[in-house]
Amino acid sequence: MKDYKWWQSGVIYQIYPRSFFDSNNDGIGDINGIIQKLDYLQWLGIEAIWLSPINKSPMYDFGYDISDYYDIDPSYGTMEDFDRLIEEAHKRNIKIIMDLVVNHTSHLHKWFIKSRSSPDNDKRNWYIWRKGKNGAPPNNWKSAFGGSAWELDIETGEYYLHSFLKEQPDLNWRNSDMRNAIYKMMRFWLDKGVAGFRLDVVNWFVKDEKFRDNPWTIRPLNPERHKYDRNRPEVHQYLKELRKVIDEYDNRMTVGEVFTLPPGDPELSASFLGNGHDELHMAFDFSIMYRLWSARQFYTCIKKWYKALPPEGWPCNVLSNHDQPRSRTRFLGGSDSEKRARVAAVFLLTIKGTPFIYYGEELGMTNTRLRRSEIVDPLGKRYWPVYSGRDCSRTPMLWNSKENAGFSETRPWLPVDSNYKKINVKSQMKDRYSILNLYRNLIHLRKKHKALAVGEISAAIKGFNGSLAYFRFYEDEKFFIALNFSKKEKKIHINERGQWRVMLSTHRSNREHLTNLSLTLAPYEATVIMKIGEL
Ligand code: GLC
Ligand code: CA
Repeated sequence: MKDYKWWQSGVIYQIYPRSFFDSNNDGIGDINGIIQKLDYLQWLGIEAIWLSPINKSPMYDFGYDISDYYDIDPSYGTMEDFDRLIEEAHKRNIKIIMDLVVNHTSHLHKWFIKSRSSPDNDKRNWYIWRKGKNGAPPNNWKSAFGGSAWELDIETGEYYLHSFLKEQPDLNWRNSDMRNAIYKMMRFWLDKGVAGFRLDVVNWFVKDEKFRDNPWTIRPLNPERHKYDRNRPEVHQYLKELRKVIDEYDNRMTVGEVFTLPPGDPELSASFLGNGHDELHMAFDFSIMYRLWSARQFYTCIKKWYKALPPEGWPCNVLSNHDQPRSRTRFLGGSDSEKRARVAAVFLLTIKGTPFIYYGEELGMTNTRLRRSEIVDPLGKRYWPVYSGRDCSRTPMLWNSKENAGFSETRPWLPVDSNYKKINVKSQMKDRYSILNLYRNLIHLRKKHKALAVGEISAAIKGFNGSLAYFRFYEDEKFFIALNFSKKEKKIHINERGQWRVMLSTHRSNREHLTNLSLTLAPYEATVIMKIGEL
């Protein structure tokens, strides 16, 4: 029997700490708030929490601009709070995964302050400095957050590179002293017992050595082809180095954010797993997040994703995160949107690969509509009203129907969604048919059955005509999952006899007994069936 790891079989839950729970009523979620909600997460059944950054930060990009990797931001708490979080989480068999933001630091990080102080100090090459060209930036690269990716530093007359805000200077991964400082910092957190890292924009770490201009295309929205500033193959040698640091410890993991624009790029994401053992343990593929609601599209996305992986590589799957609109809102469907979200939940938690759940997704939380004056995301501020930024999917977790949805006793940093009286943890916990209980039941079913957690997958109905069905199997266990993405009844017929039992369904009663796999699926039905014997 193959030995599976916790990060393969378990479910990982992403917390955006600012928005989870505010323990001291200053309007900002914090570490003690997370500790207070660990019982909820244990009840839900998750294996690990991925925390969006909690390190010290001036918050130009809400924590993705770190000014001290060895400290906790005071708005989230103290290092003692963090140590207690690890301890309390471990008591409940929950692991903590940190966000490793090392494509760039904050401009207020002491390394950068030193780096910019003169052209010949020992930190100069920890960042990317170039001379301008005829009074203009060194090349045509653009920042993902708008404008040139180069900022002129008056002091020394050179430009530094920032792939994001000018307050987020890019680190120079070609510098081995810099890399060793990062590895040392990783060991600091691994020694504390963190179970692994999510690597922020890992495919942007390394830039072209010659700083060649990027080619431009005729695509109207994103004309720049990021040939020289992203996805450089040289990154892989450094990830092999980084993997060795992780492997100094038992049982830790890494998952890379391989950030791509629509339509996504499964081959690129898969390339970050190396041979399956020598680079990252997992990487995100954004394809499904960029698709419309469609059984066929979902099918082709996962098919391509599995195919792209190295033979020993392991997939992970995700429907949303703090940079994307909430999945339920993306799936559209008007008054059927919750039904779609349920089908998506069964899909996410029964296809092969480690599922990542974005906080609130388990409640069917939707995007929050915000006014211009409420926007705080630098991207939203810059591009409003064409793009309102990412705040709409970062609003506070909805805990109950009290003021501020129980998130805080004061006005939160972002408004609470107005639908909190209907969508919240407290009321959904009590309702055994709620989407929250569907998530919980799915997670617990995965824990009981290896076929669902780590089994192989084979397609039975490939998304044509609005339905999707597949088998999962592991040793003697066999499951059949049928999903109807459409609002019409669908008849499906699979030539496979045997004794089957419904284990979980949005429409059928559990324990319903079947002697074949000819089913009439109700609109938006999602059903998980287990084989219990031969006929
Ligand atoms: C990643 C993060 C995003 C952040 C950016 C810069 O894409 O997920 O939130 O703004 O990197 O760090
Ligand atoms: Ca707080």
